[in-house]
Amino acid sequence: MIILGIESSCDETGVAIVENGHTLLAESLATSMDVHALYGGVIPEVAARSQIEYIIPAIDAVINQFSRENSAGWEAIDGIAVTYGAGLSGSLLIGVLTARTLAIVKNKPLYAVNHVEGHVYANFLVEPQPKFPLLALIVSGGHTQLVYFRDHFDYDLLGQTVDDAIGEAFDKVAKIVGLPYPGGPSVANAALKGNENAFKLTKPKVDAKYNFSFSGLKTGVLRAAQAAVGGDYRLSSTSLPALLADQQKYDVAASFQKTAVEMVVEKTVEAFKEYEPASVVIAGGVAANSELRRQLKNTLPIDINYAPGSLCTDNGAMIATLGCFKVMQGVQSDDPYTLAINPNLKM
Ligand code: KG4
Ligand code: ZN
Repeated sequence: MIILGIESSCDETGVAIVENGHTLLAESLATSMDVHALYGGVIPEVAARSQIEYIIPAIDAVINQFSRENSAGWEAIDGIAVTYGAGLSGSLLIGVLTARTLAIVKNKPLYAVNHVEGHVYANFLVEPQPKFPLLALIVSGGHTQLVYFRDHFDYDLLGQTVDDAIGEAFDKVAKIVGLPYPGGPSVANAALKGNENAFKLTKPKVDAKYNFSFSGLKTGVLRAAQAAVGGDYRLSSTSLPALLADQQKYDVAASFQKTAVEMVVEKTVEAFKEYEPASVVIAGGVAANSELRRQLKNTLPIDINYAPGSLCTDNGAMIATLGCFKVMQGVQSDDPYTLAINPNLKM
């Protein structure tokens, strides 16, 4: 079972070929991140235009790599999987229209993939593969949720964020202290040099057992940074990067990261005790965070599955992997003449 996967939901153009939902045979990843970094956040129109520029070269590169290493080309591909949501409309359209066209021209079945489900499947590319029942902590720029999978495609959403996603909180905290976009990696790096107990940040209370909330924590960071430079809530956040000393920035980063990570780890441990899953996986961009991995390792009684950082952030391999499982589990393919994007797709 060999599937070509296409991911284009945001600023990454990821294409990959995966065999049997397990082995990565070829991959290509392009990103317009450098341009967005100049503005401190993703500009949807720029992201979509970059998708147009990158997608055909990325597909060519992957097919060429696959052909060189396997002496077989398109004829060996059993199907095409593509992210159809959630994501930015313009970006999603490029991937979906490209995949639909290829499915028709190359006469291959087409499989529409939910981006967030895709993140979970990156974990099937590493040994040992996760086992069901499976608890997934999904932590990205757009999502923070706990999902309990009884089996492939049979799952319950246990809880999710009621406001910001955890990755979004990393990005906003980076902006407050003047660290470069994307905030996740820059806050994580700054935190290495900081004191995680320097600032006492309160964890917001949330309505339901497995729901999350990060907007209060972000405000807590803003207030702590204002106080650290001798100001109060009237001090504009844009003046903070110039007023904070480097060490204060590192301390804010470390204190925020510790608290944000504790918030997701505490709920994951609670869900683990209640549901007793056979495996726990973390998925999405924030799953690359080493403090998250460290805290989970220290608090969960089982080894947790993680993919390398490059498979945690958006990529084509996770989409191809989920596509393989759709075929192997007998899921019906989608119509290449009508498949539409769904920017607000939920799990
Ligand atoms: O999954 P992803 O690539 O895109 C979405 O589907 O959202 O996740 C991107 C998010 C960004 O918010 C980024 O700041 C965060 O993941 N991120 C990290 C790390 N690497 C990326 N957050 C914390 N620590 C990291 N090492
Ligand atoms: Zn993602």
